[in-house]
Amino acid sequence: MAGSTLEIKNLHVSIEDKEILKGVDLTIKGGEFHAVMGPNGTGKSTLASAIMGHPKYEVTEGSILLDGKDVLEMEVDERARAGLFLAMQYPSEISGVTTSDFLRSSINARRGEGNEISLMNFIKEMDSVLDYLEIDKNMAQRYLNEGFSGGEKKRNEILQLMLLKPEIAILDEIDSGLDIDALRVVSKGINKLRDDNFGCLIITHYQRLLNYITPDYVHVMMQGRIVKSGGPELAKRLESEGYEWIKEELGIEDETVEQKA
Ligand SMILES: Nc1ncnc2c1ncn2[C@@H]1O[C@H](COP(=O)(O)OP(=O)(O)OP(=O)(O)O)[C@@H](O)[C@H]1O
Ligand SMILES: [Mg+2]
Repeated sequence: MAGSTLEIKNLHVSIEDKEILKGVDLTIKGGEFHAVMGPNGTGKSTLASAIMGHPKYEVTEGSILLDGKDVLEMEVDERARAGLFLAMQYPSEISGVTTSDFLRSSINARRGEGNEISLMNFIKEMDSVLDYLEIDKNMAQRYLNEGFSGGEKKRNEILQLMLLKPEIAILDEIDSGLDIDALRVVSKGINKLRDDNFGCLIITHYQRLLNYITPDYVHVMMQGRIVKSGGPELAKRLESEGYEWIKEELGIEDETVEQKA
């Protein structure tokens, strides 16, 4: 079988008893690139966090399966070992842990005990990816994300992605804060991974990224659901026309904002 399949069915997720995701259905197979777009606050990052198992996000209904295995039963580290990867919208700073040490232990956690990568091979691989992504080699010796610029953090997420080689990756606004050259380099890295064994969910606000990384499917998320799916042409239409037409087409009303008296 080529690659893994991540199957999300009727997913409902709440944060502090407020329902954010209201029935998400999405299947990502090895070899497929899916883009998710949608207005601010509609639940895109919540979907990413729920897939990776962030404890704050409570799944109240529905299922997430990876090759038929129940992801919701797995701890966060088990999900990573099973081949899921999340590049976060806001990567965390980890003081006291160098980027290089973090990468090496992440790789080894995935490979499992007794199958650890040798230090020499690790350095060789890391150096070649650092070169590929045009990242300054000194970055590897700095504490993870500490003092990194916005764009450096995003580049670092792709460094992790390329070294960990997950089965299914979720990239949450990997293009935000990137300068034009960085956008090109980051896209080059993601495209390099494209093969039948790699599926990818790309959350983005801008068609611009999709000029570099051509998605097979584009989905629109609104009010906690995927309300429309199509091909790359859908992203182009959103870029030029915004989201109003979808609301009109589907009869979606803007959610009333609770106001304090
Ligand atoms: N940890 C949290 N605590 C409280 N509310 C949260 C938390 N995470 C998300 N929310 C709320 O859930 C809703 C969806 O947030 P989410 O981050 O998923 O949106 P998004 O679609 O990723 O938006 P953006 O495009 O701005 O990144 C928002 O109203 C947000 O305030
Ligand atoms: Mg978000």
